[in-house]
Amino acid sequence: MISPPRCDLRVRIGELELKNPLMTASGTCGYGDELNEYFDISTLGAIITKSLTLKPKVGNEPPRITEVASGMINSIGLANIGIEKFIQEKLPKLRDIGGVVIANVAAKRLEDYVALAEILAAHADIKGLELNLSCPNVKEGGIEFGTDERILSRIVRKVRKVFPRTLIVKLTPNVTRMSDFAKVAENEGADAVTVANTYVGMAIDIYRRKPKIHTITGGYSGPAIKPLTMAKVFHVHNSTKIPIIASGGVFDWQDVIEYILAGATAVEVGTVLFTKPNVTDNFLAEMDAYLSDMKLSRLDELIGSLNVNIGDAPHLKPS
Ligand SMILES: Cc1cc2nc3c(=O)[nH]c(=O)nc-3n(C[C@H](O)[C@H](O)[C@H](O)COP(=O)(O)O)c2cc1C
Repeated sequence: MISPPRCDLRVRIGELELKNPLMTASGTCGYGDELNEYFDISTLGAIITKSLTLKPKVGNEPPRITEVASGMINSIGLANIGIEKFIQEKLPKLRDIGGVVIANVAAKRLEDYVALAEILAAHADIKGLELNLSCPNVKEGGIEFGTDERILSRIVRKVRKVFPRTLIVKLTPNVTRMSDFAKVAENEGADAVTVANTYVGMAIDIYRRKPKIHTITGGYSGPAIKPLTMAKVFHVHNSTKIPIIASGGVFDWQDVIEYILAGATAVEVGTVLFTKPNVTDNFLAEMDAYLSDMKLSRLDELIGSLNVNIGDAPHLKPS
């Protein structure tokens, strides 16, 4: 029996009010319904779906996942059932479960992002849209959309025109200065940015003298990336005004608090779900107790409330 929180854990992302800051990270919980077999996912602030594409995708050839020190490398290649099947089969299940659904979308062409956003805009149950921009842009030689400020700006501007509810831009950390990209998203009307997707990583089987995953490199996630992403959340928080959703290496409720102190408004839980699908069970009670210990009654008072003097770190000054 979960006792009701004593403190107010609500947070706001755009027009969306969430009962607490916890979200699933895209691609680590399928479409939410399977995770619901382990715990009631409607207890979370929001459920973010696996990246959806216009057509179903089988994804990359295996091996496409490998465990490494303090995390994992994946190269799933956006395997998913496609937007239509999601709407027909998964959305009704999520509706029955209850809770806030945010759809994550991915595409290879700008016009496909817009088409996906238009389809989802027609479904009021989709409360928010998270754009996964860590996908290769076929027209520009395969570089990630999210590593080019011009292209990022164009996608956000066009999607903003067709999607009226909460729009979140998920940034790639594989750039020199992420805060520049966050500012572009903010200027184009995004309601929030997710900081961040996975880092490019590689692991080698020394006896076979082969990479451990088929696509050679993949996305590195898990506890090892938390300090990297923490620094990025802090920097983006000091450079922009829109809410930040932190994503990277959360394994415990303290990690959530750390991210909120660094400037995050909400926090996604990802890789940990592969080993502990019900890990969040105690998060809300522990966060509640922490707030009471700190003599705070509202979680949003904690956002970015880190006790620092930015003048001590000239390299972190907003650009
Ligand atoms: C197996 C796996 C699949 C993922 N698939 C997606 C995806 O489809 N879309 C997306 O935006 N992010 C995807 N991600 C990135 C996660 O959503 C998350 O941003 C990242 O893993 C960092 O958080 P974590 O360390 O808590 O896992 C995936 C991550 C993993 C481990």
